[in-house]
Amino acid sequence: MNGIRLAPLGRVRARLRVPGDKSISHRALILNALAEGSATMTGLAPGLDVRTTSAALMALGAELRPGPAGATRVTGPSDWHARGVVDCGNSGTTARLMLGALAPRAHGAVILDGDASLRRRPMGRVAGPLAAMGADVVARGEPGRLPLEVRGRPLAGASHRLEVASAQVKTAILLAGLVAEGETIVEEPIPTRDHTERMLRAMGARIETAGGRVRLEPGPIAAVDVAVPGDLSSAAFFLALAAASGGEAVVEGVGLNPGRTGFLDLLRRLGAEVVVDFTSGDLEPSGTVSVRADGLRAIEVRAAEIPAAIDELPLLAVLATRAEGETRVTGATELRVKESDRIAAIVEGLATMGADIEGLPDGFVVRGPTPLAGAALDARGDHRIGMALAVAASLASGPSTLSGAEWVDVSYPGFFDVLAGCADARVTA
Ligand code: S3P
Repeated sequence: MNGIRLAPLGRVRARLRVPGDKSISHRALILNALAEGSATMTGLAPGLDVRTTSAALMALGAELRPGPAGATRVTGPSDWHARGVVDCGNSGTTARLMLGALAPRAHGAVILDGDASLRRRPMGRVAGPLAAMGADVVARGEPGRLPLEVRGRPLAGASHRLEVASAQVKTAILLAGLVAEGETIVEEPIPTRDHTERMLRAMGARIETAGGRVRLEPGPIAAVDVAVPGDLSSAAFFLALAAASGGEAVVEGVGLNPGRTGFLDLLRRLGAEVVVDFTSGDLEPSGTVSVRADGLRAIEVRAAEIPAAIDELPLLAVLATRAEGETRVTGATELRVKESDRIAAIVEGLATMGADIEGLPDGFVVRGPTPLAGAALDARGDHRIGMALAVAASLASGPSTLSGAEWVDVSYPGFFDVLAGCADARVTA
């Protein structure tokens, strides 16, 4: 079978930095392009997803200029329009946020499309609330899926009670609400990451937040410079590898937004020692995270904990193969509509390695500990599945192969070099 070869790593000790946060990078680019003036961003995520957002903004008339030391300066267009299709690639965040941005702003029709994975993902959850504000969004293929044609028109603010806890949906509505007539309210069933609300506040928007309820009054926003911290969702792979191998990892300069740190709480409950040292807190809290463990115990994870750890749940399944007892995750149906069906992908990948794992409609059950054997693995076109399985392969008793490893570039180019550097207990990046 084709694929890269992954060797077992033994006990891992690592100290590293990770690439910029993907969620914050998308928002820094899009919100600054919607704002008055220009702003400079440093530490933007280098992966394909954020490059897709940059390209989409440029296709719509924004100006992005490289600055010193890898900085990017963005200036939004005075007139949002595009000739041809705007490609959102593999990125759900690009598609959903751009839909909200364009619904009240596009001059004429703009078509948003994406790759085969993105075309399978639900867009009705954004198009529906936007339509309730008066938006003109029409599916050019299957209902509720990309490609979608959006024709800009004036919108009316509305009150939305969301069915799914989704920061992407919340953000899309707020981006539309900025220029709607009247106030916009979004109520979430469970609070999600608040990067957008923080950035909008810093940009001078009139926004109030309380316990999963956001209220926004329309008005102009001013561009702000953003220094993007490291991505905790990328750091998580090394934190998990250290915890599962009985080692230690220290990640510096990583974002610690409370809507993102659920995985650290899960690690603690699994029995790992997690130390968080906050070093900066202007727009977003950030700092150093250290994790070490010597033996893990099973945990139960329910709906209320899911949004703050959503992207780390496949990785939790890997850790659970090392934990004593039955780990059960429920209330995570959203995993079925990510870049892949992440429940099916992680269950099948880990089962091939000998794990005792079972999929549930809304989660999974893992009975541990079970040794993992090297196997032929497949990233299934999903960056996070590729990296979670690479962590599992590093914990296995023999070598594995991983096909589709190139998908990891969606969020973490260079991941496999850093992983390889973890061999021999070496400190890496
Ligand atoms: C994201 C929100 C989450 C997350 C995704 C990034 C964001 O998706 O899984 O990786 O940047 O807002 P949902 O909004 O679909 O839950």
